Amino acid sequence: MRIYLLSGLLALTSSVYAEVTYNVIGFPDSKTNTFAVEINKKLYPLETTEKTFPLWSAKIPEASSSSGYRYLQLNDKGGVVLREKFLRAFKNRKLTATANEFFNRQVTVADVPAIKQVYPSTLPPEGSVAFDNNQIGTIHLTPDPAEFKKMIDNPQKPTDPTVDVKAIKAGFKFINAGNVYDAVEPVKIKVSGHGSRKFEKLSLRIKFDGDDTFYNRPIIKLRSQVFDPTMIRERLYIDLVNSVAVPTYQGSYVRVFVNGKPHGFYLMVEDIEPPFLSTRIHHGRITKEKEMGSLYQMGSHITGLEATMAWNGSKTADYHPEIYENKVLGQNTKEEPMAQFIDFMKVLRDYDPTKPDAIEFWNSHLDLDGFLRSMALEFLTGHWDAYWWKGNNYFMYFNVETKVWQFIPTDFDVTFSDGGRADVDVDYKQFAASRLRRKGKDHPLITKLIYKNKDIAARFEFILKSIANAVFTDKVLEPRITAFKELIKEDVAWDYSIDRSAQPGKNYGWTISDFFTSIDKPVKKTGYSINFGIRQWINKRAGALPK
Ligand SMILES: *[C@@H]1O[C@H](CO)[C@@H](O)[C@H](O)[C@H]1NC(C)=O
Repeated sequence: MRIYLLSGLLALTSSVYAEVTYNVIGFPDSKTNTFAVEINKKLYPLETTEKTFPLWSAKIPEASSSSGYRYLQLNDKGGVVLREKFLRAFKNRKLTATANEFFNRQVTVADVPAIKQVYPSTLPPEGSVAFDNNQIGTIHLTPDPAEFKKMIDNPQKPTDPTVDVKAIKAGFKFINAGNVYDAVEPVKIKVSGHGSRKFEKLSLRIKFDGDDTFYNRPIIKLRSQVFDPTMIRERLYIDLVNSVAVPTYQGSYVRVFVNGKPHGFYLMVEDIEPPFLSTRIHHGRITKEKEMGSLYQMGSHITGLEATMAWNGSKTADYHPEIYENKVLGQNTKEEPMAQFIDFMKVLRDYDPTKPDAIEFWNSHLDLDGFLRSMALEFLTGHWDAYWWKGNNYFMYFNVETKVWQFIPTDFDVTFSDGGRADVDVDYKQFAASRLRRKGKDHPLITKLIYKNKDIAARFEFILKSIANAVFTDKVLEPRITAFKELIKEDVAWDYSIDRSAQPGKNYGWTISDFFTSIDKPVKKTGYSINFGIRQWINKRAGALPK
């Protein structure tokens, strides 16, 4: 049914009716299905085009923003496939268009309370248009179906590290409440991550082509969060890193569809790349990569190698390229990209922690407070997959403005007791103790600075207490956790309903009940358990801290 109205009539009735545009993001169950909006018991068809899909819209002259409405999916005969059970309403009656709403999801834009800054940050608390905490974006990827299937059916990295997996091309569209981003050139997709590659649900890396960057992010990652039934732990950790004014990637939730089919609910994060350094560290003062300092990405390896920062020789070749990877060349030569960081490790190797003026000394080499704040968070959240415990998941950047190294933490999914490792649920002097005792596995930036130097230890304890008192309490974090829970619960349920059994790999079989439970209590699955709920862990850690 189409409603035609003469514009003259519209003018006459404008005091009662204002033309309203309805916009809904919808992926029909079948190609011939369509969407419609129901206003005062009347149905109005919505339209999409190849260019605007999956956004369905209609300008309805006789509609008014004072009327409630709901969306429906219809079959090709006009029959109702699904009618939203809830009535939608305009919050602001002056509006003449809806936001881009998502079919059958009640919340479009929430009001997630911010966490206060423990330390002042000059950066905007929320990342950008794309990284908005108050809403869930929608991503539609359109790769060649056979190529995509081949990619996700073979998620493991080749055993030969010199063999590079070819990325596949895809169309990319991102839509949130107020924005549509449609990549002009195809994006390049790869499976990403380490441990998560063993799962049915995979993390993905998306690279934009040429000038076609996604709100100044040339690469984004869709992190699967398979270890965390709440999918909130990593998001909350990012908030804490922001609150202590340490730079890290921003993240926000997205639902992902591939060729019109449900693919999953993800945490979208940006990659640590020159645009990140430019905006989040140099505040736009430096934009050209060749003017930036050197950047290294640190990882650990299945062979047991760890990025301990222990000196291992004076040549680049002495360092495993997957453990210490140069990402931005900075002042190094192409032949010796590790040189500048090797110098730093040499300073660390030669450092005698009994020497006086440790804080002055380290301040001239390192953003010491930033590092100590990052370590305080690793300890508070029980993060076993980062520098302190594992020698993993961080970057070191030589800041050319301050002329010191900066620690940049990343990858926060196995936190707040997730993973249940030994040496985590202890006081800070015991944290990772048995790990650090292993021969050749000392993490000297912890042991020499925090354990062995009295002044730095005192500084660390002061920072730890400041963070714990200001934000690491259930009272401060609970409203944000609850707001995230309300924002994402429907999408988490949707993710857990997707059948991925055709995929190789594991599936812990989380359910929506585990989602709710793991916020407050332990959860247990075959082969995996999380010993404390998020809030339980916060209470426990905060309570144990005075000791
Ligand atoms: C340190 O050097 C040894 C011997 O050359 C090498 O096998 C090992 O991979 C190196 N460690 C790291 C972390 O690069």
